[in-house]
Amino acid sequence: MLSLLSSVNKVVVLLVAVLVTTPLTLSREWGEEEGVTFGQLGKDVTLTCAGVSLGATVDWRWNGAHMLPEDSVVQQGQLLLSRATLSSEGTYSCHNTDGLLLSSLVLRLGRVPEVPSVSCRAPNYDNFSCFWASSVETFLPTKYISTYRKKPLTEDEKQRSQPSDVGLCTQDPAHPLSCTVMQAQFWSSYRMNVTEVNPLGSSFRLLDITMQAIIKPDPPEGLRVEPVPLAPRRLRVSWEYPSTWPRELHFQLKFRLQYRPIISSSWSVVETTNLSEVITDAFIGLEHVVQVSAKDFLDAGSWSEWSPEVWGAPAIGQTMAPSEVATAAVKPEGPAEEPSLAPNNAPVAGHSDSTEKVAVLASLGVFAFFVLAAILGFAFLMWVRVKKHGKEATKHHDLLAAAIHMKALPKAQIL
Ligand SMILES: *[C@@H]1O[C@H](CO)[C@@H](O)[C@H](O)[C@H]1NC(C)=O
Ligand SMILES: *[C@@H]1O[C@H](CO)[C@@H](O)[C@H](O)[C@H]1NC(C)=O
Repeated sequence: MLSLLSSVNKVVVLLVAVLVTTPLTLSREWGEEEGVTFGQLGKDVTLTCAGVSLGATVDWRWNGAHMLPEDSVVQQGQLLLSRATLSSEGTYSCHNTDGLLLSSLVLRLGRVPEVPSVSCRAPNYDNFSCFWASSVETFLPTKYISTYRKKPLTEDEKQRSQPSDVGLCTQDPAHPLSCTVMQAQFWSSYRMNVTEVNPLGSSFRLLDITMQAIIKPDPPEGLRVEPVPLAPRRLRVSWEYPSTWPRELHFQLKFRLQYRPIISSSWSVVETTNLSEVITDAFIGLEHVVQVSAKDFLDAGSWSEWSPEVWGAPAIGQTMAPSEVATAAVKPEGPAEEPSLAPNNAPVAGHSDSTEKVAVLASLGVFAFFVLAAILGFAFLMWVRVKKHGKEATKHHDLLAAAIHMKALPKAQIL
């Protein structure tokens, strides 16, 4: 008898489907559990106990309890939730007057998708990827459909192209919110279509792209900073092509190197096409921070992100580079003072080196001028003094001569 009753129950549950009014969606596709119903946040949501004639007395329960959400009313057997909020989610069940379960459903609330934001980037000339983010928190399970249409390049292609020529931008579950177009054509333009879909609706973004505009290499790899033996102001920096950039003759990279002593916040930047570079204006005895980034050799697209920072200090050598000798001559306090110099903002290493030389030469000139002036002044004073002394000496000499003469005279006169 009991088992009969329970199977009748089951049959009733199976037969009674919950009908939903406009903002609601009943979906097997989206809900992991069966019988999940989706409603729109902020809208009025009406739950109907189907199979029961309208106006019949029905008892609604929310998560098994008789207490229903605020702002909810039962009208003619339907449960009306006005301006539904997230707190109204849960399991709703309708029962007859005897308390017998007629039907139940899980209500989930959320928003209709809005146009997602999409950007695309090509790490090389073969493949490109697009990345997206939803513009609004929908609170609901969401899928994305990513497709592209290649724009015809020639009249001939235009005539042959079909509206159905849509390619799939492949999504990799390991990299959600992105897709990749393989074997892209460098000279082609693409119209991307990224559609955000959830149980309440869908919304798509179109984006026109060309490979040249979206090319952005990955940062160079294997960055190394090494001291140069016996050169306390030099650092040798080397790096490699990013592994995602195929080494082809026609598609080379150029590089940008930035470095600063750790105590300074301003970078010096050098651009180069080499895979190594020697910094010649490093600060003696200081650790330096170095990073490198890459860009298409012909300036297409944009610079890569900076590689991770690598630190290195120049060699502690006794031999001084010529510029240090000059600096030491002008400033006897010596290299210990040097780190307190203003940070080096010069954009290119070679340029800053020559500025330093000019400064050293100028100060040497000023120094020499003062030395010369001092010597001349001293010489003048000496000359004046010698002259004066000479005059006095002559005077003395005359007096002496006179005295001698006078002394001599009486003697002669005596004699
Ligand atoms: C974009 O893709 C979606 C889903 O495939 C489709 O419904 C929509 O019509 C597409 N829009 C355009 C302009 O192609
Ligand atoms: C393009 O993408 C595929 C798949 O991710 C990869 O195997 C291939 O190496 C990529 N091509 C280049 C040049 O990076």
